[in-house]
Amino acid sequence: MILIALMLSVPVVPVYIQGPAFQSPLKGQTVTNLTGLVTAKSTSGFWILGEHIADTRVSNGLSIFSSSSSVLNKVAVGDIVSLSGKVAEFRSSSDPNNLFVTEIDSPTNIVKLSALDTGLDGWLSVPGNQSLIEAVNATLQPDEFGIDFWSSLEGQLVTVKNPVAIDFENSFGEFWVYGDWTVTGKNSRGGLTITIGPDGIPDANPETVIVGSPLDGTTNPTVSLGKTFTDITGIIAYQFGFYYILPLTAPTVVSTPSADIPATTLNSGADACTITIGDYNVDNMAPTSAHLPTVAAHIANFLNTPDIMFLQEIQDNSGELDDGTVIANVTLSTLAAAVASASNAGVQYDFVEVAPENDQDGGEPGGNIRTAYLYRSEKVQLVPGSPAGGALNATEPIIGSDGKLMLTFNPGRIDPTNAAWEASRKPLVAAWETTSGDRFFTVNLHLTAKLGGSSTQGDARPPVNAGVEQRTSQVETVATFVNALLAQDPDASVIVGGDCNEYVQTRSVFAAFDGVLTELDESSGVDPVERYTYLFDQNSEQLDHLFVSDVVQGRGTEVEHVHVNNWAPSIDARASDHDPSVARVKVC
Ligand SMILES: *[C@@H]1O[C@H](CO)[C@@H](O)[C@H](O)[C@H]1NC(C)=O
Ligand SMILES: *[C@@H]1O[C@H](CO)[C@@H](O)[C@H](O)[C@H]1NC(C)=O
Ligand SMILES: *[C@@H]1O[C@H](CO)[C@@H](O)[C@H](O)[C@H]1NC(C)=O
Ligand SMILES: *[C@@H]1O[C@H](CO)[C@@H](O)[C@H](O)[C@H]1NC(C)=O
Ligand SMILES: *[C@@H]1O[C@H](CO)[C@@H](O)[C@H](O)[C@H]1NC(C)=O
Repeated sequence: MILIALMLSVPVVPVYIQGPAFQSPLKGQTVTNLTGLVTAKSTSGFWILGEHIADTRVSNGLSIFSSSSSVLNKVAVGDIVSLSGKVAEFRSSSDPNNLFVTEIDSPTNIVKLSALDTGLDGWLSVPGNQSLIEAVNATLQPDEFGIDFWSSLEGQLVTVKNPVAIDFENSFGEFWVYGDWTVTGKNSRGGLTITIGPDGIPDANPETVIVGSPLDGTTNPTVSLGKTFTDITGIIAYQFGFYYILPLTAPTVVSTPSADIPATTLNSGADACTITIGDYNVDNMAPTSAHLPTVAAHIANFLNTPDIMFLQEIQDNSGELDDGTVIANVTLSTLAAAVASASNAGVQYDFVEVAPENDQDGGEPGGNIRTAYLYRSEKVQLVPGSPAGGALNATEPIIGSDGKLMLTFNPGRIDPTNAAWEASRKPLVAAWETTSGDRFFTVNLHLTAKLGGSSTQGDARPPVNAGVEQRTSQVETVATFVNALLAQDPDASVIVGGDCNEYVQTRSVFAAFDGVLTELDESSGVDPVERYTYLFDQNSEQLDHLFVSDVVQGRGTEVEHVHVNNWAPSIDARASDHDPSVARVKVC
């Protein structure tokens, strides 16, 4: 569902064109500003519906004929559009026994009047805040749009039957639910995943509502993804950016999903070319972090100690203390030692990083978070022969004296002085060699955060997606680097990924990867509703992604998201706000 619609006055509606007879009274005339709701599309046009009139002889539907893709791309089912064109009577063959159909030929001036979340990415279209709901004062269409639906119930006492929680509670004890109605994007745990809707537009799951503090002063229960509750009766109100149900009293828990969280099924094996990759945002990890042993146990027992771990949010050795320390070798060796003691086989990881300049990469002040790799040296080694890059050195692909592709700095950072990376974590690139002597390349990302965006149910349409311009530029610089690698060797095995702080449904951000890299969930055929690593408000969503070059995709890929954190029994039981992922790819 798109979130809001606008119905304008209708200068000309289809009824005046159809008229009460077989042929149109306006045949041959040009009509302007014809307004209607798009009800269906085909490759040769679309149909619109105008206002109903009492005269049962007159149809309020009308065919708009055009096979031009530039016309057809402008409209989607559910849009309210205005257009101009010529009234024509058409029959599908010259057989004089066939009747004519009234239609509009050569439509022009097609203007979408309906959705305020306009753009190919719907509510995720960029830029945001192109219109304001309050200023537009749209007429509600509760059957079409989520916000309109909830607004149509403002102040009413309603009951949500069989509510299901779709996130943890927030710090005020408020939590999101859906009831026993039809929902889209439902995943196996009961959450609602951001998916592309049947209209080709990302769906923001507006069929959900947040449960506020109970009006009688009772306290809401502790919630987690997939918990169910007794029916909630309360008042619909708008506050803090969302439509709420304010319950008369707190519901009680009916069912709690299993606390047994499955580990990945993907294992590393003896084959030198088959590599497992783990990806984990470990949430501001310092050597003394209380959650470090839990993360180590996740890597050992839930991710099956992947050959390479892409880590994000590794803090320097002094953690959040802003004392000029930038290296993280104590943080990384403490984590590696904890993994060794947590894993039955005592797996030993080596690590590699490029320390940032002090306080230049954003995040918690003094923490100097960066991306880093843990790797199993019995399976992969850094390609030798290049120095490790410093914080400001841009690594570049070159052909070495042995005729093989390598990097000028290994490991190194991509274009670290580019404005796209200002106050943001720089991508860490490494060239690796398998025990069979084959090479592949990885890029570990942590793109700039979404902090400060506007609510999905707020006044600004589309909602403001904070940081989106910078994330788009960051993806562009990464694509430039990968293109440079592929220009030297079109068959280079490249794996790019990490915490992208963005959903792939915000297609504009990842456009520079189109035709260069394929997302692993897509190439591995993961069910779209199971593609999530994060919970936020009403959505299960994927912020963490892995992408591969064509040659890697062609060899077959697998990926799994391991819900050790988002399936936790309570928000306090999580080790990180992100779930880790594991992939298995063939790099030769
Ligand atoms: C018809 O639509 C155009 C924009 O497409 C607008 O400029 C014009 O004012 C409209 N005319 C009427 C009569 O509404
Ligand atoms: C949207 O733009 C208006 C100005 O048109 C501004 O007043 C408002 O603060 C903006 N809203 C957001 C969420 O950025
Ligand atoms: C909002 O729309 C309603 C219904 O069309 C209208 O009665 C009202 O005057 C409008 N309010 C404003 C502030 O434009
Ligand atoms: C960290 O690096 C420093 C400086 O190179 C070195 O003195 C120290 O031994 C290292 N510590 C660990 C645990 O690797
Ligand atoms: C790497 O960066 C340092 C500054 O951090 C600079 O002194 C050095 O010249 C750079 N090396 C190359 C080869 O650009």
